[in-house]
Amino acid sequence: MVRSWLGFWKVRRDKNESERAEELGKAIDYDRLPIHIAIIMDGNGRWATRRGLPRAMGHRAGVESLREIVKACSSLGIKYLTVYAFSTENWKRPAEEVNILMDLLVEYLEKEIHELHENNVRIKAIGRIDELPKKAREALYRDEEYTRKNSGLTLNLALNYGGRNEIVEAVKRIGREIAGDKLNPDEVTEEVIAGYLYTAGIPDPDLLIRPSGELRISNFLLWQAAYSEFWYSPVLWPDFRKVHLLEAIVDYQRRQRRFGGLKTK
Ligand code: FPP
Repeated sequence: MVRSWLGFWKVRRDKNESERAEELGKAIDYDRLPIHIAIIMDGNGRWATRRGLPRAMGHRAGVESLREIVKACSSLGIKYLTVYAFSTENWKRPAEEVNILMDLLVEYLEKEIHELHENNVRIKAIGRIDELPKKAREALYRDEEYTRKNSGLTLNLALNYGGRNEIVEAVKRIGREIAGDKLNPDEVTEEVIAGYLYTAGIPDPDLLIRPSGELRISNFLLWQAAYSEFWYSPVLWPDFRKVHLLEAIVDYQRRQRRFGGLKTK
């Protein structure tokens, strides 16, 4: 009985969501889409705990959301999607949870690769990839190589990523270039620094989405998010669906980006 009621509410929720998604789809200006969307996939643990499930189930459900959002971005024509999948701070979690996250990553890369490739998606890993377990590194290098020539959506997976660490590494490399007389300190500009980051050659995110009600940047894309529009939602990542992505895009398109200048008439 309880099961059939739950089923009824799920069908009803799905119907409402798809009607709303259709409405929002019509409200979007396809000539002014964000070029780069970044997402902090947060709330997997709370989603599981609220259901009396182990945290791992929350991460597994989070992979489903990732699948849906990648598909949605790809079909909308978004050029770059960067997702925060594992931070430099996430190593502090119990080894069991870290292993589960790595296994889910490998599983995702194995299972999704053909569909991603068919949809012209390019996979790129950003972060200290050389410090990840061998199985994760190998799966990432294999999928990056396999999708290297794709020209649709670029899916940046931020793994063992930390914004401060990214800047430190860039400063070290710039320092070495200066010490080796390959770079003049007076010629170091914002563009030069950006060229030493993991995201070199990729435009800064226009829209940064954080679900789960947290209002922090959490060491994500610190340099690149200088002028990103932020969009927060109380929805936990495993419940995040295409409809929420569309809400964020519609809201983004209502804003006026001034980049420190004045409002244009
Ligand atoms: C934050 O939720 C989420 C993470 C640390 C991992 C995100 C990973 C996935 C969505 C799945 C695996 C990724 C790939 C690329 C296949 P949290 O655990 O901190 O949630 P909480 O704040 O509610 O505890």
